[in-house]
Amino acid sequence: MFSVSLGEMKEFMRNFHSEMRKGLAGEKSSLRMLSEYVKKPRGTESGIFLGLDLGGTNFRILLLELTGKRKTRILSSSKFLLHKKHMTGAGTALFDFLAACIKSFTDKYKAGIDRKYRIGFTFSFPVKKRALARGILIRWTKGFRARGVEGKDVVLLLNESLKRKGLRCAEVVALANDTVSTLLARSYEDPDCDIGVILGTGTNACYCERAGEIINIEWGRFSKLRGTPYDKAVDRLSINPGEQLLEKMVSGMYLGRIARLVAEDLPGKGKLPGEFKSEYMSLIESDSSKNMQKTKNLLKKFGMPDPSYSDRKLLKKACSMVSTRAARLGAAAIASVITRMDARLLKKHTVAIDGSVYEKHSGFSRKIKQALKEIFGKNTKNIRLVLTKDASAKGAAILAATAAS
Ligand code: GLC
Repeated sequence: MFSVSLGEMKEFMRNFHSEMRKGLAGEKSSLRMLSEYVKKPRGTESGIFLGLDLGGTNFRILLLELTGKRKTRILSSSKFLLHKKHMTGAGTALFDFLAACIKSFTDKYKAGIDRKYRIGFTFSFPVKKRALARGILIRWTKGFRARGVEGKDVVLLLNESLKRKGLRCAEVVALANDTVSTLLARSYEDPDCDIGVILGTGTNACYCERAGEIINIEWGRFSKLRGTPYDKAVDRLSINPGEQLLEKMVSGMYLGRIARLVAEDLPGKGKLPGEFKSEYMSLIESDSSKNMQKTKNLLKKFGMPDPSYSDRKLLKKACSMVSTRAARLGAAAIASVITRMDARLLKKHTVAIDGSVYEKHSGFSRKIKQALKEIFGKNTKNIRLVLTKDASAKGAAILAATAAS
């Protein structure tokens, strides 16, 4: 049920291409293909800018200096934990919280900057943009559901909160998806970079369409997929049934949920108590300790006092099936985007990738590279996958710089 053959990856790519075309033409499609009103930086932009990143469990702020010579320097950075109440309460409370974090950051980092803070804002949700600093939230994803934000301009909301906090010297001048910031962060240094990918809590990508315009695909929403009964159950139990179907097969928010259902369905097995996180899968998959002792200890914490060795091996197999499928679907999606830009893979492409699953899940990046090799053969040498860590806030600052130059 979980295997993805080369033939299936190729079929995925054909479907993906046709959905991309429809989305770009404004026809009905599961891919949103949102225009970002941004082009790649030239590498000559310079100055000091503030970058924000909202989209997961932390809100990040970073002050970045751009040299104008394809180099950047982080002057200061902070991370603030988002509580459940911020993600699911009133939207104004969420934006007031962000403004309060920015105020505490700028109060701390004075360093003689008495001029205006120009802010780039990475907001990692589907946004319908109308200009670089104008964007309406279409729909929350990844467990967020703060009230009164869908259908509103998130730049206006943040700028209003900043004013309410008395921060007159700070203004959001650019807005971007995290995939776009990731692409910008890498392409400031590397002109070959033309795709930004996130494989973390959620999953998505952006790329340079003809004429260089950057498109946010929102590929997490891709729906031409053959899901298993386990995927259908995960979807049914989620807060957004019927939506984000590829995301629910590939991203960190859901992998643990699928693996748990598979494990619970094995003959004679009971329920796993507690939340089975994707991180646990990674630990179990990479467990090479004697008799899988590490897995035994982990399962003990789950209230399973004596899982047998054969159970532990079975669980390892289940986790690995689920994450291998995720990696192969991710690879097929990356391959689709590259071939949209360059059907015969004649040019070099750097794929900037960020996200916990790609970075930390045991074997994940290797499996993606392996699958790309199956798809492209020796031509894979033209594709470079580059882990671009913490790029969201950095890319946002670079974006603010492109707005200013
Ligand atoms: C979700 C969001 C998307 C974001 C991705 C990765 O899919 O809808 O905008 O890029 O997560 O964070």
